[in-house]
Amino acid sequence: MKGRLITIEGVEGVGKSTNIAFIQSILSERGIPSIATREPGGTALGESIRKLLLDKEQQGMSALTELLLMFASRAQHLEQVIEPALAGGKWVICDRFTDSSYAYQGGGRGLPLELIARMEDLVLNDFRPDCTFILDLPVETGLSRAENVGEKDRFESEHTNFFKRVREVFIARGQSEPRCHIISAEQTLEKVQSEIHEVLKSMLETD
Ligand code: TYD
Repeated sequence: MKGRLITIEGVEGVGKSTNIAFIQSILSERGIPSIATREPGGTALGESIRKLLLDKEQQGMSALTELLLMFASRAQHLEQVIEPALAGGKWVICDRFTDSSYAYQGGGRGLPLELIARMEDLVLNDFRPDCTFILDLPVETGLSRAENVGEKDRFESEHTNFFKRVREVFIARGQSEPRCHIISAEQTLEKVQSEIHEVLKSMLETD
């Protein structure tokens, strides 16, 4: 049986990693093999592309170049990691995916969403995640949580309004795509995880 692709999205500081570990623990309790991976990155080539994308020295990178690099990393990731894992019956839990391209390169950088949709069709054909969790927080709360961890990368150095536009696109996609579940990360971790658990249970029932 084929695996499923679950993606986790949200602005900086929403607690994606903790919840990825939680999802893997639920799957493992049910005897379902899974892998956790991330974008940009997830392959050796993708991790090199990630370094370029996050490098603060790359101040002159155009929004279109940024989008193309995100999708270059994704194309490699799909072919080398995601598709083989799904074909082998593993579930794939991915820290960010195409919704981040809509939110950051579309909302944040201002590229037309139709252009991103064209890239998505080109690189993914009709492949889409089975389920997406959008962890949502007011931007100021997320940024102050993220601030404690190390030096800021090229995205983290953006201003508050950039992240507000990112959040708006995440919310709009969350409301228009049936595979997306918006979960308030302002709640206690216990509440966040019980909401995630409910969605997983209904996915596992239809398996
Ligand atoms: P990530 O490591 O998840 O950042 P964080 O842990 O700070 O949330 O992702 C790296 C950055 O890449 C993040 O700032 C968002 C950005 N990004 C895009 O702009 N577009 C994309 O398509 C993806 C996948 C990520």
